[in-house]
Amino acid sequence: MKRAISKRHLLSVRNISKRFVTSTGLIRRKIIAATQAVDNVSFDLHVGETVGLVGGSGSGKSTLARIILRLIEADSGEVWFDGEPITSLAPDRMRLFRKDFQVVFQDPLHSLNPRRTVAENIMRPLLNFGTARAAARLRAESLMVTVGLNPATIDRYPHEFSGGQCQRIAIARALALKPRLLILDEPVSALDVSVQAQILNLLKSLQAEFNMTYLFVSHDLGLVRWMCDRTLVMYRGKLLETGNSDVVHDQPAHPFTRDFIATVLTMSGDAKWADVAARLDDAETPAEVDEHGCIYAPVCSECRPVCRRKPPVLRHLPTGQAVACHLYEHTSENSAWIHQRAAGVVS
Ligand SMILES: Nc1ncnc2c1ncn2[C@@H]1O[C@H](COP(=O)(O)OP(=O)(O)OP(=O)(O)O)[C@@H](O)[C@H]1O
Ligand SMILES: [Mg+2]
Repeated sequence: MKRAISKRHLLSVRNISKRFVTSTGLIRRKIIAATQAVDNVSFDLHVGETVGLVGGSGSGKSTLARIILRLIEADSGEVWFDGEPITSLAPDRMRLFRKDFQVVFQDPLHSLNPRRTVAENIMRPLLNFGTARAAARLRAESLMVTVGLNPATIDRYPHEFSGGQCQRIAIARALALKPRLLILDEPVSALDVSVQAQILNLLKSLQAEFNMTYLFVSHDLGLVRWMCDRTLVMYRGKLLETGNSDVVHDQPAHPFTRDFIATVLTMSGDAKWADVAARLDDAETPAEVDEHGCIYAPVCSECRPVCRRKPPVLRHLPTGQAVACHLYEHTSENSAWIHQRAAGVVS
């Protein structure tokens, strides 16, 4: 079934920032750690599209997903869903939107209630939104069929199913309220490789059948390329590159995206993308980062003086990508530096 991607925005994320602060002391609170988990991130999702949010461990993907779902509040910025600014909606208004976006998390066993049967798990959102029990039960049975499970097993408990089957149950529950947006936060990372493909194929066919929009969170750029129309690359809370998934993968523009892909190619077959990002992070010396400079400057092979004193903004390239990197600015300082490097004056 062919998917229709509309030009209409279903979701618009505007300048979202979130900083986590850990402090001690009851009266005189002392900050012992602070993490800028998401830093001024903006992007749009079109109706029917799948957008991949990719980045290493701790790059802020889940925090951003949780802010969109309003499971946590952003420090600043706005999220618009179908033309409504949902970040500022009161809880009763927000409830009306809740059924339009659902989430599937990485670990299905943790996201399902182990003390309730599969039927109760899938029916829960329907009952919360006022569906009568008998109708909810019928819908749960039909959702079991939709996700490829035998409805005769609906009165069993989650622990009686395999990891892949539990993820199918979690997907059935997420579909119960007919959401328009599904946020998939590493939906197959906890599953065996053989089961991963089945779940991803199921997600693809469900999207085509129900014309849903997906935000697919992953640390695996290869998987994101296969699954997603567009890719957003995050590093330490910042969006560094966005574009058509094939273009981002085949012609990565940001030095981080290039390093990310190049490092994977040099690693053994079973290496995980998260390990790659950890390697890039290990090489970093955060003390060297000027708070006004580019976050990737300390390890970037293309780093120039401007990168340490000025934050790059996302700018569009002729290939359709948008890249936050001074390399693509046509300034006299930039040209002089490129010239000097070609002449071997700087390394
Ligand atoms: N509740 C919290 N309190 C303090 N710090 C947090 C909290 N949640 C996340 N963080 C920090 O924010 C940063 C981003 O975390 P986040 O979980 O969003 O990353 P991620 O990209 O989803 O990583 P992963 O791929 O490992 O799931 C990390 O440094 C993390 O330690
Ligand atoms: Mg995460």
